[in-house]
Amino acid sequence: IRVTYIEADGTERTGEGKPNFSVMEVAQSAGVEGIIAECGGACSCATCHVLVDPAWMDAVGAATEVETELLEFSEYVAPNSRLSCQISLTQALDGLVVRVPPKQG
Ligand code: FES
Repeated sequence: IRVTYIEADGTERTGEGKPNFSVMEVAQSAGVEGIIAECGGACSCATCHVLVDPAWMDAVGAATEVETELLEFSEYVAPNSRLSCQISLTQALDGLVVRVPPKQG
């Protein structure tokens, strides 16, 4: 399952993960800049914020309540914001595109 990350400066990186890997884990193995993931995927740090490509919003789904509360601390929060550690890969997400905000937090 391939995921493309567009970094803040426009650099694109593509990573690959198995089902149930998170979009955050794939970013780390692909060396994506700007996804810090301080809490290691526990949905408590909000430093793994990504902006989901609008074309993929339906497939990815909306943020949970806890996620939304954490995302409110981000300066770059938008309707398509998600915490990448909370998006699990499924075959339906093959080809997913997400953008990394200019800064976390
Ligand atoms: Fe901490 Fe996602 S890695 S909230």
